[in-house]
Amino acid sequence: MEMDQLVALCKRRGFLFQSSEIYGGLQGFWDYGPLGVELKRNVREAWWRDMVTAHNELEAPPGAPEAYEMTGLDCAIIMHPQVWKCSGHYDLFHDYMVDCRESKRRYRHDQLYGRWVEAKGQRIFVATEAGGEEGLAETQQKALKFFNLRSKEADELAWDGPLVSLTTVKDLSRVLGPNAKQLGTLTEPREFNLMFKTIVGALGGDEDAAYLRPETAQGIFVNFKNVLDSSRVKIPFGIAQIGKSFRNEITPRNFTFRSREFEQMEIEFFCHPKTSAAWYQYWRDRRYRWYVDLGLAGDRLRLREHEAAELSHYSCGTADIEYAFPFLPAGEFGELEGVAHRGDFDLRSHMEGKLIRQGDELVLELDAEGKPRYRGSGKDLTYFDDLTQERYTPHVIEPSAGADRATLAFLCEAYTEDEVPDEHGKPTKRVLLRFHPRLAPIKAAVFPLVKKDGMPEVAQEIYQALKPHFNVFYDEKGAVGRRYRRQDEAGTPFCITVDGQTLSDGTVTIRDRDTLRQWRVRKEDCLAEIRQRLNG
Ligand code: GAP
Repeated sequence: MEMDQLVALCKRRGFLFQSSEIYGGLQGFWDYGPLGVELKRNVREAWWRDMVTAHNELEAPPGAPEAYEMTGLDCAIIMHPQVWKCSGHYDLFHDYMVDCRESKRRYRHDQLYGRWVEAKGQRIFVATEAGGEEGLAETQQKALKFFNLRSKEADELAWDGPLVSLTTVKDLSRVLGPNAKQLGTLTEPREFNLMFKTIVGALGGDEDAAYLRPETAQGIFVNFKNVLDSSRVKIPFGIAQIGKSFRNEITPRNFTFRSREFEQMEIEFFCHPKTSAAWYQYWRDRRYRWYVDLGLAGDRLRLREHEAAELSHYSCGTADIEYAFPFLPAGEFGELEGVAHRGDFDLRSHMEGKLIRQGDELVLELDAEGKPRYRGSGKDLTYFDDLTQERYTPHVIEPSAGADRATLAFLCEAYTEDEVPDEHGKPTKRVLLRFHPRLAPIKAAVFPLVKKDGMPEVAQEIYQALKPHFNVFYDEKGAVGRRYRRQDEAGTPFCITVDGQTLSDGTVTIRDRDTLRQWRVRKEDCLAEIRQRLNG
């Protein structure tokens, strides 16, 4: 599948629109249309239901070390600025950017690639934003142009190995930027904090600065004690939250994959330090299985354990659940979710102040005068176990998923083109979205075969009976074949058709989107039939 086809379908059928499109759009921001909003809601609801409300706290699920409880929160987007100082985001949540003095474009330093090439006695590094085959072709074109060579003179270019990251290049004066004609137009890399800054209150001084949260996790940590005291949960337990997060990404790209405003679905799971390694394994596998169960099976989905050098400042173990998005070069995967073992970093930071790692130890970061760089809340965020009489700081396992990335992956996986016979038996191309029925924006469509003979009245009766239970769609316009195609493109798993036979024996046909199989049921049984198939 070409990504362009999916992007066009998303716009045509109302899944996703560029934000503020009539004003030319705003990079990194997206609006969900009528079908998109249902799809994303279903992703969020499947997550909340599977992780929180349907979780049975009396039994240990397969693979879990013991039974556990789950509860939820919905925190404010703007939090006390000290939260971000102690969490490390204020100092450490940045990317490196480079600017091009010629094209005025800005790039993330680690997202530029390139190749060294020599011709006419000059050796230069040709940079590109594209990886893989596309990157190779682009660097070749750019080098030919730079050295004033024609395509048939490509042999005069002496390439020095494959594409490598720009971060390996020390001398930027030899670099030809991705959109530049001259050498050496890229600036030295500079740090760029990804948090959006805002002002709280009317005075607008520096002391009123606050930040839009770059993750939902911190709201959970700072409410740990509130949840303990108000709900009487016992360790082990998890707190879940779904909500918007904001990151001023230097180069938002790849549709909704890297946006500046997005939604996260995060769990902070609190456990005893002795069992945290087992819980880490449990959550890695549990979360991976969730995507498989909702249709992301096969070799496009993988679970990848991080190398030590890749770990975040707080993490003592992380695995990513990754998907081979179609916009990535062949063989490359993009992160859907990170499952991190965060140890006691977060609760301790909010008690003591900003921590840094020294060898295997987390210690308080000090300023030049030997005082804590950022002070914590001073509140006691430890846990007391009544049974064992033990007091300790819990360890945390964090499965952190992106609702928009998951929605995008489900869209990519669902996009299918096949050939089916039309009304006259002639094979015709069909585009369909093979969503798992739980995720499908519309669960069933109801059609009268023709707009006469009492068929619309019966179809509307069925529509009204189904409507209170799930999202259904009524359509009586145009040829029935065309109506089926429209529902296939929207990913509707079932179409119910009222035809001549309905009027004599009270049965209707139900058509399955994927197999095209049709079978008859009594019209009174439509609700039970669809409900049973949606559940599985
Ligand atoms: N609390 C940990 C945390 O926020 P993260 O890996 O930075 O970890 C978690 O983010 C998830 O949030 C990612 O796996 C991804 O699904 C989603 N996410 C992060 N940045 C995003 C962006 N710019 N656009 C869309 N989704 C993003």
